[in-house]
Amino acid sequence: MKTRIIRINPREPETGKIARAADILRKGGLVAFPTETVYGLGANALDGNAVKKIFRAKGRPSDNPMIVHVSDYFDVFVLAYVNKTALRLMDAFWPGALTLVMRSRKTVPSVVRAGLSTVAIRMPSHPVALALIHESDVPIAAPSANISGRPSPTQAKHVIADLKGRIDCIIDSGKTQIGLESTVLDVSRKIPMLLRPGKISVEDIEKTIGKIRVHKSVSGNLLGKKEVAKAPGMKYRHYAPNAKVIVVEGKISKGIAQKIKALAKGKKTALLGNDRAGSFGFDFVAFGKNKTEMASSLFCVFRELDGKGYEIIVVQGTDERGLGLAIMNRVRKAAWKIIE
Ligand code: TXA
Ligand code: MG
Repeated sequence: MKTRIIRINPREPETGKIARAADILRKGGLVAFPTETVYGLGANALDGNAVKKIFRAKGRPSDNPMIVHVSDYFDVFVLAYVNKTALRLMDAFWPGALTLVMRSRKTVPSVVRAGLSTVAIRMPSHPVALALIHESDVPIAAPSANISGRPSPTQAKHVIADLKGRIDCIIDSGKTQIGLESTVLDVSRKIPMLLRPGKISVEDIEKTIGKIRVHKSVSGNLLGKKEVAKAPGMKYRHYAPNAKVIVVEGKISKGIAQKIKALAKGKKTALLGNDRAGSFGFDFVAFGKNKTEMASSLFCVFRELDGKGYEIIVVQGTDERGLGLAIMNRVRKAAWKIIE
């Protein structure tokens, strides 16, 4: 399949180009587009056959449901039963990086929800995403635009590397801002439950609606443990580069450096961290000065280090406050070994 690549201005999307991409979506095709979090791979959410093509293009397991993206509030009421908690959160955080899991109406094809009775919905804030959804005049189902299991794409070149030849169109609007996928919160239950942490933090959400629960798979080290995951996507190894990832939860001491060297067995090893002085002879790669920078660079750095032939990537962890919970969630899910 020939993949058309369209460059679109991220701040002032050209209407003619948006119209071309929207036309592909309306006709049942697949278009990769930028959001403020990561690039998504979109299809008309009301067209079950179009959505099935997403699973095929990504190699995505069919029991992993998708997020439906909307550009106006009216669509949310057509797709789901919206409760008061959802309304308050939509008012506080939309458009933005918060996905709400709500009880689904029959309008949403079962394939989008992977057969569940709930549907995940978000209104992205990226001007290109909003313009594209608005112009296509249908809600857009979109997982991240990567081959399943690989790090999510934060630049069009990542989408091109994974999906060129497999989808109809890729929109290139440069780098995404946040770099990690949206926060996923299930508001269909009495006490809302965080299923995936993101830029909108637990602290932000609790300021708006009070205490929430955090699913145990969000924070824990899941290696070797059997978990009954609520979000079906949680049970797969995710976000992983080809290199093996070793996550160090605390500071890297001399003893831990020895342990890493024993695990690495002389393989080409990079250390993604914030303390060049404490890099113990590994190839040091700066992981950003703060959590915002760490989040926006993580997936891109994973792909770059793969490209440079690194076989082991050591990631120096951070605390779990604010955005830290999302960063640690992603690196733990990518991990081969975790050193506590
Ligand atoms: O930032 C994002 O959310 C990006 C951009 C493109 O919007 N999208 C994204 O989609 O990350 P995806 O498919 O890679 O992740 C969606 C997550 C998965 O963990 C999935 O299991 C969960 O949302 N999910 C979707 N529908 C659900 C539902 N009905 N119940 C529970 N979890 C659900
Ligand atoms: Mg994904």
